[in-house]
Amino acid sequence: MDRYAVIGHPIAHSKSPRIHAAFARQTGQQLEYEALLAPLDGFVDTVTQFREAGGRGLNVTVPFKLEAFALASRRTDRAATAGAVNTLMFDADGILGDNTDGAGLVRDLVANLQCPLARRRVLLLGAGGAARGALLPLLQAGPASLTLANRTEAKAHALTDAFRQYAAGTTLHASTFAGLAGQQFDVVINATSASLSAEAPPLPAGIYAPDALAYDMMYGSSETAYLRAARDAGVKHLSDGLGMLIEQAAESFALWRGVRPHTAPVLAELRRELA
Ligand code: ATR
Repeated sequence: MDRYAVIGHPIAHSKSPRIHAAFARQTGQQLEYEALLAPLDGFVDTVTQFREAGGRGLNVTVPFKLEAFALASRRTDRAATAGAVNTLMFDADGILGDNTDGAGLVRDLVANLQCPLARRRVLLLGAGGAARGALLPLLQAGPASLTLANRTEAKAHALTDAFRQYAAGTTLHASTFAGLAGQQFDVVINATSASLSAEAPPLPAGIYAPDALAYDMMYGSSETAYLRAARDAGVKHLSDGLGMLIEQAAESFALWRGVRPHTAPVLAELRRELA
């Protein structure tokens, strides 16, 4: 049977084995999907052993996405611009590195949440790996403007400079959080890791347009600090990143198997369990 896995450190908490098992059942694909714990200094060795034992592909999670990028012998455009790889596929030509995180985010926004991005004002909070991974798919969705705001302003400028060549019809800005005062946005996406420490980026009042969506790439059993702050600011449309997790998995599954699973039943199942 074809073997796949998610590799990370730690890995016990990963929902990927359950998500992919559900996709395989639903699409009638014969495959095994497991969780692989790699030692912090043993990513390449663990991947090599898995591949030599017949493994066909891997999802890659913290802290190995940069090592996976370096290991790939060829990369998709979205992996190249993200500078990180979350999906490896082994084939006769070597190791393909892809990054499905940004596509998963855009699909969750546009298809699941019915939140169009085209011609709208998008604010992306953060300038680390999560923000970088989302930028190309967000720009390809054709927003009117994309503003990247970060605590450390220089990182926001560096990232917008790096992506300006992909911004064809979109106005791309870099900002501090305070510098957002007086502007309004239709879609605000939190790609900072602030929610991990139960903090929310300090956003000025009045930045949410009427009917704006506030989205946090993080998720958990209780509402994230960012979503709580957005709710307190009067935002009515709120979403955490559970849908993004499932959509990035579906995108990897489609790359490996050539079949796109239905995500709605899997999302509903995981949502019930989180509650
Ligand atoms: P990730 O891979 O999750 O993006 P990262 O590359 O370490 O992690 O980036 C973390 C991001 O969250 C950065 O944009 C960071 O801001 P700085 O560039 O100023 O460090 C942001 N961040 C982390 N904690 C934050 C907080 N408490 N408030 C605001 N931004 C925060």
